[in-house]
Amino acid sequence: MRKVKVRLGTNSYDIHIGSGLLTQTGHQLKENGFVNKLVIITNPTVKGLYGDALKQNLITEGFKVTILQVPEGEEQKSLDAAGSLYGELTDFYAERITPILALGGGVIGDLAGFVAATYLRGVPLIQIPTTLLAQVDSSIGGKVAVNHGQLKNKIGAFYQPRLVISDISTLTTLPTKVLIDGLAEVIKSAVIGDKDFFAFLEKNLNKVKSLNVEVLEEVVSQSAKIKAEIVEKDETDLGLRSILNYGHTVGHAIESTSNFKVQHGEAVAIGMLAEASISNKLGILNKDELIRLKSVIKRAELPTQMPNLEVENIIQAIEHDKKVLRGKIRFVLPQSIGSVFITDEVSLSLVEEALIGEDEAT
Ligand code: NAD
Ligand code: GLY
Repeated sequence: MRKVKVRLGTNSYDIHIGSGLLTQTGHQLKENGFVNKLVIITNPTVKGLYGDALKQNLITEGFKVTILQVPEGEEQKSLDAAGSLYGELTDFYAERITPILALGGGVIGDLAGFVAATYLRGVPLIQIPTTLLAQVDSSIGGKVAVNHGQLKNKIGAFYQPRLVISDISTLTTLPTKVLIDGLAEVIKSAVIGDKDFFAFLEKNLNKVKSLNVEVLEEVVSQSAKIKAEIVEKDETDLGLRSILNYGHTVGHAIESTSNFKVQHGEAVAIGMLAEASISNKLGILNKDELIRLKSVIKRAELPTQMPNLEVENIIQAIEHDKKVLRGKIRFVLPQSIGSVFITDEVSLSLVEEALIGEDEAT
């Protein structure tokens, strides 16, 4: 098992990464001082795959356990779903010391995390992420939220977990589409933070796709380390943390323009390429590195071509964000693989040029 530490003073915690950790959870929780009862929040898919085994392990270790289920889907990140969970926690007589275990992908992690942050003004949260995206990104750093109307993550908090348990073997049951969505965030981590990790991905991408557990363990560990270091420097997202949004300025605009038909990871992949191309056009990122990035994205089976959307509409969506951000639109651009910078000096005509001419990277 590997450990990555997130150093945040009294809110510090460990991320445990390894294969088969799920069935050692009870022991780990006792080591961390938890006793008596606890609550697992999950969805039917993950419960069927892992919830019952986890529950059994916890019961064997002497815990009183209840599993609360929310249906599948992003729409469950809602105040209504949180409200139902508050009721069920009350029925279970959950106390301020009763931990909530968030077992699932980013949807469950964000919702259960929001409930943990707010129920009784905060109960301990244990993240047990089971998707690649959740293991490398959403379970780390304490952002918990629900959506409000059409607005994503509008109501939330910074609420750090007490422990993150990333069992690599859970990734072996992921549908390919979900795995590949997470791969976009892995590539993002390497581009923003570690050129050697990028080289590792170039070498081992096929093993990631074939779910080689050792390679996945390295991928999750390296990505977690990169995110942990950023969160340690800027826990509440006032500056540096925004580099985690590399690929997302253009990516979000593509997602919303497509009415969310383009998946998040796909949109981020196109966004990463467009933003790398902007950097290249500004004379910063060299062509060879742009080509390396395009090649990794392609090999990950993520799109490198713009979807069938009007570039004009994507620019409009970026401009809409600009209004929301008081006239400044921030871009995170790679200066080289492994290092990025933040700028609000990118003209929309250059973005348009990058989106239209993004094919030049071949
Ligand atoms: P998800 O939670 O919807 O999971 C994707 C699908 O995989 C679901 O159908 C789920 O039931 C299934 N699943 C989960 N684990 C499985 C397993 N081991 N085997 C088989 N199927 C499994 O999607 P996601 O990509 O994990 O998370 C997306 C969410 O994460 C979004 O709501 C996004 O806003 C949020 N997010 C949050 C942060 C943060 O910092 N808090 C960061 C990035 C994304
Ligand atoms: N996923 C972006 C962040 O955690 O800040």
